[in-house]
Amino acid sequence: MEILLPKEISAVITALEEYGAEAYVVGGCVRDSLLEREINDWDVTTSASTEEMRRCFAGKKLIATGEKHGTMTLLSGEYAVEITTFRKDGSYSDGRHPDSVVFSDRLTDDLSRRDFTVNAMAYNPARGLTDRFSGREDLQNGIIRCVGDAQKRFNEDALRILRAFRFMSKLKNTEGKGFVIEDATLAAMESCKERISLLSVERVTAELAGIITAERAGETLALMKKTDILSQIPSFEACDAGIERIDKLPKELETRTAALFWSISAEQAKERLAALKFKNSEIKRIAAFLENGKTALTSDIELLELTAKMGAEDAFRLFELRRIFGDGCAEKSKQRLCRLLEEGRCFKTEQLAVNGKDMAELGFEGRAIGTVLGSLLREVMAGAENSRENLLQRAKQFKEEQ
Ligand code: CTP
Repeated sequence: MEILLPKEISAVITALEEYGAEAYVVGGCVRDSLLEREINDWDVTTSASTEEMRRCFAGKKLIATGEKHGTMTLLSGEYAVEITTFRKDGSYSDGRHPDSVVFSDRLTDDLSRRDFTVNAMAYNPARGLTDRFSGREDLQNGIIRCVGDAQKRFNEDALRILRAFRFMSKLKNTEGKGFVIEDATLAAMESCKERISLLSVERVTAELAGIITAERAGETLALMKKTDILSQIPSFEACDAGIERIDKLPKELETRTAALFWSISAEQAKERLAALKFKNSEIKRIAAFLENGKTALTSDIELLELTAKMGAEDAFRLFELRRIFGDGCAEKSKQRLCRLLEEGRCFKTEQLAVNGKDMAELGFEGRAIGTVLGSLLREVMAGAENSRENLLQRAKQFKEEQ
């Protein structure tokens, strides 16, 4: 069994070994290599202390990113490699951070403190794979199972409950089979679920976003609902409208979250999403989907106004959302908007044959310029001719009526 390491990563392992330490790549990068997935980060675990790392990488770009926890980050080519001293963690009384970090000189200690068997494998080019907890077999069979006592693992860090769901949602074995959570692990997740309230909102939302945008979001969210774990996430209770349909949507956070929040109002959703610390741009986009979830969208002008409000791409996303929630007209509306856009129909004032300068020349001032352009746009969207001659004439009439 061989994992092909990028040369920058091999160089880190070799440097630590030449220094006299043990060193391995570990965790997610080993799991994803065996699953033939793209690797996000290469993490290294070593018997070297941070002081020894400093000496080993003297003159190199080594940054103390988490020295208290034994972690230094080495910038090597395009990689930022986290190198961490072997650890056996103490207890986690706040459910988030180990109260004390105990360093070790044994790889086995370091692997034993990790969350799941599939994340507890280490690899070194000369020593091969170290797999004390049958992680490779669990990967082959598509099983998420805690290392050792599951209850203890979730008591140490309740985020692992959501991590288990995220791995279920995103991982597939090499035969394309999705992962299941092993029974004892799932039972421990249920019994520790109240500890989710101890977690920071940012960490919870990051995991949730990972679950929602992955391959098997529907099945995973359904299991979270069944085990009453979804309702432990503040602001997310009763936000499960689109669970069965979510996999039909593109794997994109805002569209899929709008589906989950479909049964509540845009105003309510905004409050809840702000509490979950979604970004303002995400909240705005999700709220726009919900605000237009049930509005009439049949006439040309309604379709063009929608496009002006949310942009063509999001208007098409909205039709997908409406379609999965049973709007029989969504497909027709989509085709109609396609045709309108192909015909070059106007939906923004910038597309008009006249501009603000023309309006100023006719004597409009300040905000009146925007208002008259808006009125002209509405007429053009309703079918009036978008020619300079026609629009100047209509603007003059507006001026006279003022
Ligand atoms: N880990 C853990 N408990 C956690 C978080 C992480 O035991 N609560 C361990 C696991 O061994 C994990 C490794 O630290 O593989 C690295 O964690 P992280 O980078 O957060 O996740 P990955 O497993 O690499 O997965 P992903 O990249 O998909 O987040």
